[in-house]
Amino acid sequence: MSEDALALDLRGVGKSFGALEVLRDLELAVRPGEFAAVIGPSGSGKSTLFDIVSGLETPTSGEVRTDGQVAYMPQKDLLFPWRTVLDNTALGLEAQGVRRKEARRRADALFPAFGLDGFQSSYPFQLSGGMRQRAALLRTVVLERPVLLLDEPFGALDSLTRTEMQLWLADMWQRYQWTVVLVTHDIREAVLLADTVHVLSPRPASVAERIEVPLPRPRGVDALTEPEFAAVERLVLDALQNRAVR
Ligand SMILES: Nc1ncnc2c1ncn2[C@@H]1O[C@H](COP(=O)(O)OP(=O)(O)OP(=O)(O)O)[C@@H](O)[C@H]1O
Ligand SMILES: [Mg+2]
Repeated sequence: MSEDALALDLRGVGKSFGALEVLRDLELAVRPGEFAAVIGPSGSGKSTLFDIVSGLETPTSGEVRTDGQVAYMPQKDLLFPWRTVLDNTALGLEAQGVRRKEARRRADALFPAFGLDGFQSSYPFQLSGGMRQRAALLRTVVLERPVLLLDEPFGALDSLTRTEMQLWLADMWQRYQWTVVLVTHDIREAVLLADTVHVLSPRPASVAERIEVPLPRPRGVDALTEPEFAAVERLVLDALQNRAVR
C-alpha cells in the first residue's frame, strides 16, 4: 500500500432499486485513520451506501475501492437474546471460520476496553442500552478489518448515554487508530467525532458538501460549547439546508 492510498474510495457511485434512484454519482474518499461522518436526510440512501461498501448490494454504476475488508455494524445490530454476551461477540469470528475457543478468547480480550468486563456470561436483556451497543460494536471491531462502517450506532440511546458513548468512541478511535465511517442524523455527533463531514443531498443522494472539522483533539464535553464548535455545526446545518455559500 502506498502512503497516500485511500482506505475507501467511491467514484461516481449510483444505485437504483427498480425505478427508485437512491444514489447518483456519489463520491467519497476516506484516508487511513480518518474519522469520516456521513450525514443526510432520512431515506437519502445512507444505509444503502454502507450495504454497497460492504458488498451486500452491488452499485448500479460507478466504482467502489476499499483497502481490505470492511467491518459493518448495521443500523439495527441486534444481539441474539439466547446467546451470552461473549458468545454474541465471538459470532462474527466464528462465522469467518475461526475456532470457537479462539474466537471467544479474542472477543474476551476486548471486554475491559469496552466497559463490559464481568458481563461475558450475561444475556443481552441483562445489559443497559449503551452496553448492548458497545457489545455490538465489539462484535464488529474484533474482526480486525481496516475500515469500520457504523450506521447510527447511538440512534436509540438517551442523550446522556449518547454523549458518553460518543466520547468513549472518540477515545477508542484515538487508541486503536481505526478508519471509521459513521452514518448519523445528528449534527453535533458528526462535528464532535469526525475529521470530515460528508453531507448528502436528498434522494437521489450524492455528497453535496465535504466539510473539514478543524477542531483540536481530544474533544471533550467542553468542546461542545466552544464558539468554533458552533461555527462548524452551522456550516453542516447550512449544507443540509442547501444554503451554503459556495
Ligand atoms: N433492498 C431495497 N429494495 C428496495 N428499496 C430499497 C431497498 N433498500 C433501501 N431501499 C430504499 O432506498 C431508499 C434509501 O434507503 P436507506 O435505508 O438507504 O436510507 P437511509 O438514508 O439509511 O435512511 P434512514 O436515515 O432513515 O436510516 C429508501 O427509499 C428505501 O425505501
Ligand atoms: Mg439508514
